Amino acid sequence: MKPIAPDRLPALLRLMPKAELHIHIEGSLEPELIFALAQRNGLSLPYADVQALRRAYAFSNLQSFLDIYYAGASVLVQEQDFYDMARAYLRRAAADNVLHTEIFFDPQTHTARGVAMDSVINGLHRACVDARAQTGISASLILCFLRHLSEQDAFATLEQALPLRDKFIGVGLDSSELGHPPENFSRVFARCRELGLRLVAHAGEEGPPSYIWSALDVLKVERIDHGVRCVQDALLMQRLARDRIPLTVCPLSNHRLGVCASLAEHKLGQLLDAGIVATVNSDDPAYFGGYLNDNLVQTFAATGLRAEHAYSLSHNSFEASFIAASEKRGFQDKLQDLFETFP
Ligand code: ADE
Ligand code: ZN
Repeated sequence: MKPIAPDRLPALLRLMPKAELHIHIEGSLEPELIFALAQRNGLSLPYADVQALRRAYAFSNLQSFLDIYYAGASVLVQEQDFYDMARAYLRRAAADNVLHTEIFFDPQTHTARGVAMDSVINGLHRACVDARAQTGISASLILCFLRHLSEQDAFATLEQALPLRDKFIGVGLDSSELGHPPENFSRVFARCRELGLRLVAHAGEEGPPSYIWSALDVLKVERIDHGVRCVQDALLMQRLARDRIPLTVCPLSNHRLGVCASLAEHKLGQLLDAGIVATVNSDDPAYFGGYLNDNLVQTFAATGLRAEHAYSLSHNSFEASFIAASEKRGFQDKLQDLFETFP
């Protein structure tokens, strides 16, 4: 790899082709859109204006964030609301040179309020189709089960979503982690596996390394979302590296939720240097102060990562994605070209 001066790194990071694999679409809802949708749907919010809402985004841990995140999502009512939210994210992602994205959505947050599953999935899916036609970005959807609810509720959600099976590629597990281990969802994940759905789960964000082990060995997931607490378990790090199990890491989220004390102390470099297929992602960009390129540029500046790490992160993002091998190679060739020609 030819040397790239440190002051050129931000430009390189922004220009790199990349895949985003850990983005909660409800976490892309910007305060301005929250207020616009509340007005469209005749709902009132407990905040005077956009600035007052933004001031409430001071989180101490995952739960303090989730409380505000679920309240924000309550303005989503009609199919068009889901469409507008996803279209805005996809535009923003394309501007960051995201070529492919796998988008999480939390249907239970909406169906519990009486919103139809069809409105959620059809609105999001239509946005993905239109974005592909208009900007070329490729996007697929991953349905997440809320782990603070029961496995029975997850099964009912799966049943409601199955008529729309061709509009999502997989399932995930998110929400409050502590006290809700992956193994609570073993049967519903086994069923999803039989159905040919791709499997991922949040584990090792606030929860212990044992949750990462059980996501792998009980749920049989193919990727771990966050997973940063694996650094507390040397054997687990070896397992992740050996089996090339990707981690979808979200540095700005980890900092804002107190998973790491400062961005400078983030373990991304340690994960990459241990040979783990780590990727960088935005998680909930409207709440954590940045989209994908902001995560990359700020983390590199704070931790001193170098051009070879940038290359690995882009390469890993395609490797870790659920696209066909030929498409992965096509995107990775673009990365190679950029590194060869970058001034
Ligand atoms: N839902 C949205 N963001 C999340 C996160 N960081 N962890 C768990 N569940 C989430
Ligand atoms: Zn997440």
